[in-house]
Amino acid sequence: MKATVTAHREFVISEIDDRVYGAFLEHLGRAVYTGIYEPGHPTADKNGMRGDVAQLVKDLDIPMVRYPGGNFVSAYNWEDGIGPKEDRPVRLDLAWHTSDSNQVGIHEFADWCETVGTDMMLAVNLGSRGLDAARNFVEYVNHPGGSYWSDLRIENGRKEPWKTKMWCLGNEMDGPWQVGHKSAEEYGHLANETAKALRAFDKDLELIVCGSSHADMPTYPQWEATVLEATYDQVDHISLHMYFRNPEKNTANFLALSEKLDNYIETVAGVIKYVKGKKRSKKDVYISFDEWNVWYHSNEQDKAVLEGNEGWPHAPALLEDAYNFEDVLQVGCILNTFIRRSDVVKIACIAQLVNVIAPIMTEPNGRAWRQTIYYPYLFASLHGRGTALDLNVSCPTYDAKDANDVSYLDISGVHNEAEGTLTFFAINRHGSETLNVDVSLAGFGAAEVFDHQVIDHDDLEAVNTADNPNKVIPQPGSGLNVQNDKLSIELAPYSYQMIRLKV
Ligand code: AHR
Repeated sequence: MKATVTAHREFVISEIDDRVYGAFLEHLGRAVYTGIYEPGHPTADKNGMRGDVAQLVKDLDIPMVRYPGGNFVSAYNWEDGIGPKEDRPVRLDLAWHTSDSNQVGIHEFADWCETVGTDMMLAVNLGSRGLDAARNFVEYVNHPGGSYWSDLRIENGRKEPWKTKMWCLGNEMDGPWQVGHKSAEEYGHLANETAKALRAFDKDLELIVCGSSHADMPTYPQWEATVLEATYDQVDHISLHMYFRNPEKNTANFLALSEKLDNYIETVAGVIKYVKGKKRSKKDVYISFDEWNVWYHSNEQDKAVLEGNEGWPHAPALLEDAYNFEDVLQVGCILNTFIRRSDVVKIACIAQLVNVIAPIMTEPNGRAWRQTIYYPYLFASLHGRGTALDLNVSCPTYDAKDANDVSYLDISGVHNEAEGTLTFFAINRHGSETLNVDVSLAGFGAAEVFDHQVIDHDDLEAVNTADNPNKVIPQPGSGLNVQNDKLSIELAPYSYQMIRLKV
């Protein structure tokens, strides 16, 4: 099968905000306890943080990590996680039917972020709590000193404020499963009042208001319209979430879901424009896609804990999806969608980072390894920075249950002028035909390949495990031909490639 692509230096979508390569870490399952934190682990540092995990995180060069939830945040008291560890209370976590020892709180998380070289994106509880707890938390985290909460932070060992810019106003408040779930009107009012109070403290905060939990929510997209009408002047981003599933083992449809993602972004971008117009506003609001990933492999095994049949365990295995090779293709398509929609998506977080629907897995008191999806995320984070090109793609398409006219070739192109590089991320969605892709590089002059990585496997269900961590890993590619400004790529059926050119 043949496809043609034109990449023109002057045809650009937008500068890509590095924060689209963010991640998310919730007090859920083993994400924190025996994930990033395990005192007594052979690699643990003086704070009890696992060095093996920190290294795998550092390698990803993640710009920011969203914390502490997720559904967890909607019944969380942030004050439970400060002060001497032996005095911290054990609390029941209503979201996941577990308990939390609060041995990790804001200080431990912030120190860990400094260790791995990332910024914090913090969420406040607008479920069981509200404006007051939120404003106190922001003062504790960001005020230099001389006030009740900032002095308490200093007393607890942290002199300098963390100066955290990004604050989420609750989590998935449209979801009936959320503790303190609200109607769009109720939430819009509370989010606006909370945003006003936080801005009174610091007008330069970046505030993220909750949009829909997924594109099949009955309230979508009216939720976005109502919430934005109430909050438009006070917020910077609206948060969207989406998880991708393939329980029917229908690969063609699974890989078409990134078209549904694109549609979801397009619709919410339209709602943002509608509210902007209605308000005669000059200000722009963007999308923070702060939860996305494949999530379905672990659904059955999680039932016992989630239905409360195991009591209130501390840090049980939950949402431990074992990702396969098919998920590499899906994650590649999702990241390509964010690159292509970088005009409106300015923040995105893979959900999550360690153990819980995560690219990194650990054994308690044992090994840590990279899941299959670690690699497309790594490549996009390291090399997907720069300007997104508006590629002209011509390729045969197919119709699937959830989307029509799905191109067999999914591709994005990123030009980094400062580095003099042009990077393509390409996926072949066809299961039996090789894609021969001719790429014209217009306005770039002669190009030279300097890195070519392929992720391919003959078994879509192949996974990486602690015993066999290298089953699905990138390999140097072949079959690439570049002559002056013409590049030809050969993409095997169901495969992923990253191609990097010096231009
Ligand atoms: O990431 C797992 C959960 O998915 C989050 O807690 C919640 O926000 C979403 O429903």
